[in-house]
Amino acid sequence: MDDLKSKWLGLIGEAADEATLEDLRVQAVGKKGEVSLKMRELGKMTPEERQTAGPALNALKDEINSALAAKKTALADAALDERLKAEWLDVTLPARDRRVGTIHPVSQVWEECTAIFADMGFAVAEGPQVETDWYNFDALNIPGHHPARAEMDTFYMHRAEGDNRPPHVLRTHTSPVQIRAMEAGGAPTRIICPGRVYRADYDQTHTPMFHQVEGLAIDRDISMANLKWVLEEFFSAYFGTKVKTRFRASHFPFTEPSAEVDIQCSWEGGTVKVGEGDDWLEVLGSGMVHPKVLQAGGVDPSEWQGFAFGMGIDRIAMLKYGIPDLRAFFDSDLRWLRHYGFSALQVPTLRGGV
Ligand code: PHE
Repeated sequence: MDDLKSKWLGLIGEAADEATLEDLRVQAVGKKGEVSLKMRELGKMTPEERQTAGPALNALKDEINSALAAKKTALADAALDERLKAEWLDVTLPARDRRVGTIHPVSQVWEECTAIFADMGFAVAEGPQVETDWYNFDALNIPGHHPARAEMDTFYMHRAEGDNRPPHVLRTHTSPVQIRAMEAGGAPTRIICPGRVYRADYDQTHTPMFHQVEGLAIDRDISMANLKWVLEEFFSAYFGTKVKTRFRASHFPFTEPSAEVDIQCSWEGGTVKVGEGDDWLEVLGSGMVHPKVLQAGGVDPSEWQGFAFGMGIDRIAMLKYGIPDLRAFFDSDLRWLRHYGFSALQVPTLRGGV
């Protein structure tokens, strides 16, 4: 019995890892282990022999089991010590520079537009998002009864009973900034106005708040030809490839003549590619500024003329960056932003650099 004890406790003491320990357990106290087999022999013994051998074997089994458990803990502790020695952390090191924010695709495209038009001599103008209905409508030749007012799904700001100040709206387009820019700077002028606009509409291609960039160029001899050149130059720089435009006769109260502008594209397997193919995609409204609008801005229409356009920023952002649903711009989470967002501004210019 003492031989057995010293043999197994010795082996357990020398075990170098958990696998060896497990083997030893099976060989000693497993079902067919040496100690277990010895216990089975108890039946063949005389009652006297059994009285001493029985408790001794049980005690031996207990001792081996506790030696196994103790060794297992010791091995685990040693392994942890090894790891702690190998994997240490210097908490005094400065943290690594991790960029958590990204630029939203709309902001990115807003900047891209600003940079490209700046190259063509357009300055940025601004106006309020809560606008009087005079700037949003009347000054743009949209009188009170005009159907365009209804078509624009306007958000009206309600006045308290007895409050007789002029009505305000959430601007439905960036065109009121044309008037403000003319009032502020007169003619000649060349401005763009990127900004938020609002209409009561919500589906895959409409959100109640969206973004436009307005353009206005006024001088003595500005024509539709200049408009077409500026737009083709813009789209080619923006998409990084030559883009043709198509002008379709249209109607806006604030331009005459008016045109809706399509850009050249192709449809392949449900994806649209700009600057190739023979399909067309509508991206903006435009025209020659109506004489009444020039007048409203304090510019003499017998001396000055010019073009204006209004383009959807979200729309051209979706086209360039392959974003399928407009609503994702405004109700998505950080993972979406990481996917489509930008870590640093990459701004294309007319000269083709990025
Ligand atoms: N303001 C028009 C719109 O929102 C677009 C436009 C701007 C059309 C300037 C012509 C000239 O639909």
